[in-house]
Amino acid sequence: MSLEQAREWLGSATAVAVLTGAGISAESGVPVFRGAGGLWKDYRPEDLATPEAFARDPRLVWEWYNWRREAIRQAKPNAGHAALVRLEIQKPRFTLITQNVDGLHDMAGSGRILKLHGDIWRMRCTSCGSNWPDRRVPLPKLPPHCGCGGLARPGVVWFGEPLPEGMMREAEHATLEAQVLLVVGTSAQVYPAAGLIPLAKQAGARVIQVNLEPTPYSGIVDCALEGPAGEILPRLI
Ligand code: OAD
Repeated sequence: MSLEQAREWLGSATAVAVLTGAGISAESGVPVFRGAGGLWKDYRPEDLATPEAFARDPRLVWEWYNWRREAIRQAKPNAGHAALVRLEIQKPRFTLITQNVDGLHDMAGSGRILKLHGDIWRMRCTSCGSNWPDRRVPLPKLPPHCGCGGLARPGVVWFGEPLPEGMMREAEHATLEAQVLLVVGTSAQVYPAAGLIPLAKQAGARVIQVNLEPTPYSGIVDCALEGPAGEILPRLI
């Protein structure tokens, strides 16, 4: 299916949902998790982004987040992020659902964002449960601690942990009411986020995927556009 056809679907839809992943920030210089340039010291994200990994070696996990925070700190939103801001302005009903924790959608100017996996610029105390923003790069001491003396962890969702209360329900609701679901820069391997793609299909929405390469859902989406999000999204929107 062609980009022109996808642009027509998107143009005539009044309710649109967008699901983004690390690929939308790749052209801003933020490393993706899987594929080329994605691995940090040969660890897979599944080996570091878990409560078990943090319990075993909090310093190692924090070193990884410190490295990601450094890369993200230097990053600016790109033309892909900006195109989604324009789309939001055009559509009466619009929801941006992101797996990204980098804050680049906020910086670009997106208004309503469901951050399924949390926010890398927040911390949470594993002892007293309080949470707070922390934008220091690099962190002066690893692992960081809370004022109460407890160990601090990144304010993100790890494998095996539930998503923030009620957020997946909101994402599903937006997906179910959307006429078009636009899926950008995600390998579609991490659930429940990836499950929004078959959900949209079941509900009868058109699904448009933008990715450098095929994903497990390339066969079921209505239009799979291959190329960099920063080039394709401005042409699509
Ligand atoms: P991945 O790193 O798994 O996938 C990134 C996807 O973006 C790949 O399919 C790439 O082909 C694609 N891509 C790369 N550069 C691109 C570009 N310029 N334009 C378009 N596509 C591009 O990232 P996610 O799918 O977001 O979770 O990963 C999901 C979750 O796994 C993350 O939120 C994170 C990770 O573990 C947690 O930390 C809980």
